[in-house]
Amino acid sequence: MPAIAPSVLAADFANLQRDIAMLNSSEAEYIHVDIMDGMFVPNISFGIPVCEAIHRHATKPLDVHLMIEQPDRYLPAFRKAGASILTVHYEACPHLHRTVQHIKELGALAGIALNPHTPVELLSEILSDVSLILIMSVNPGFGGQKFIENSYHKIAKLDQLRKEKGYTFKIEVDGGVNLDNAALLAQSGADILVAGSFVFSAGDPSGTISKLKNVSQV
Ligand code: DX5
Ligand code: ZN
Repeated sequence: MPAIAPSVLAADFANLQRDIAMLNSSEAEYIHVDIMDGMFVPNISFGIPVCEAIHRHATKPLDVHLMIEQPDRYLPAFRKAGASILTVHYEACPHLHRTVQHIKELGALAGIALNPHTPVELLSEILSDVSLILIMSVNPGFGGQKFIENSYHKIAKLDQLRKEKGYTFKIEVDGGVNLDNAALLAQSGADILVAGSFVFSAGDPSGTISKLKNVSQV
């Protein structure tokens, strides 16, 4: 059964405390926090003070997804703002090994995100160093986009590599996740499903989180 990480990007920002309370009492394992800088991706979401405010109310670990250029500049600040997992983009890090070491020195779990066009094979020399690989199943920048079908194949390939080498990182999938694809994503090897608009646009967000977990029972 996969873990669910609802993305607060789709929450009601004027009622964030209410939405975090809903996540606290739901079956979600993580709270996914999307940080966008208007440079790496063509959209700006929110920053460190909002992450801090979420952390103050959350009883679950914050899974912080940094869609920003030169993320090293902000790693200590996001760690201080409550990030348990810090995920940076492969495409934003020319010195990825150094960035991963930096995250670990800060006491957080290190994750690497891959854009839809980036092959998983490019990570072969760093897979043993990380706790999480995030497969983007939409182009990063916006919630509510259509799931890219090729993501199943990437997840399966990464899962295969993990099994072959005995690595322990978790596989997370992010973008367009819903009840139509959750089961196959889990079967393909995804351990954590991120879901934003599908959860928060539902009449019963907490029940929807439970359904995502259960439909994807393998
Ligand atoms: C997209 C973000 C996602 C987003 C997912 O750039 O990384 O986490 O919130 O939203 P949905 O589930 O609506 O595709
Ligand atoms: Zn995300």
